[in-house]
Amino acid sequence: MNKEHVLKNVDIVVSKGNAEGDITYANPIFVKLSGYSMGELLDKPHSILRHPDMPKLIFKFLWDNLKAGNDVIAFVKNLSKDNSFYWVLAHVRVAKNPDGSFRNYVSTRRMVTGGARAVIEPLYAKMLEAEKEEGMSGSLKVLEAFLSGNGASLATFNETMKKLNS
Ligand SMILES: Cc1cc2nc3c(=O)[nH]c(=O)nc-3n(C[C@H](O)[C@H](O)[C@H](O)COP(=O)(O)O)c2cc1C
Repeated sequence: MNKEHVLKNVDIVVSKGNAEGDITYANPIFVKLSGYSMGELLDKPHSILRHPDMPKLIFKFLWDNLKAGNDVIAFVKNLSKDNSFYWVLAHVRVAKNPDGSFRNYVSTRRMVTGGARAVIEPLYAKMLEAEKEEGMSGSLKVLEAFLSGNGASLATFNETMKKLNS
C-alpha cells in the first residue's frame, strides 16, 4: 500500500489557479506534500495531484460551481509524485479584483477527521463504481442518495461536508 501523509490540525495547504486551473501559487506545505518542486508545479494543471480513487463527479461539481461563481467545500484524496497520498477538506473560492473581474481561484485545504474519512471513503468508492457502470448520472444518483439520507441536497453540499469534518 502506498504511504499516507496525515495533516496536522494546524496545517493549511494553499494553492491558487488561473482560469484554466493551472497552478499560479503554492504554499510551502502544498509543495512538500506534493513531492514536486515549486518549479515542477507552477503553470501545471491542478490535476497533477489527481488521485484515481477520486470520482469524476466531484470535479465536475467543483468546476460547474466555480464557473457559476460559487465556492465549493469538498473532500479530496490527492496523489503525490512518489505515489503517496493525502486527504484534505478543500475550500475552493473564486477571488475577484476590486473592479469585480476574475482574479484567480484559491483553494485552502485542511486535515480530514477520522469520522469524515469513514463516511467519505466508502461514498467515493461507490460513486467511482457507479461511474464505471453507468457514467456520471449513476455517480450523481449515489451522491444525491447519500445527501438526502443526511437530510441534505446538492444545494447544501458545502455545509454537509463541513459538518462531516467537525
Ligand atoms: C484552485 C483549484 C485547486 C484545485 N485543487 C485540486 C487538488 O488539490 N486536487 C485535485 O485532484 N484537483 C484539484 N483541482 C481540480 C483540477 O483542476 C481538476 O479538475 C481535477 O484534478 C480533475 O482532473 P480532470 O479535470 O483532468 O479529470 C483544483 C482546481 C482549482 C481551480
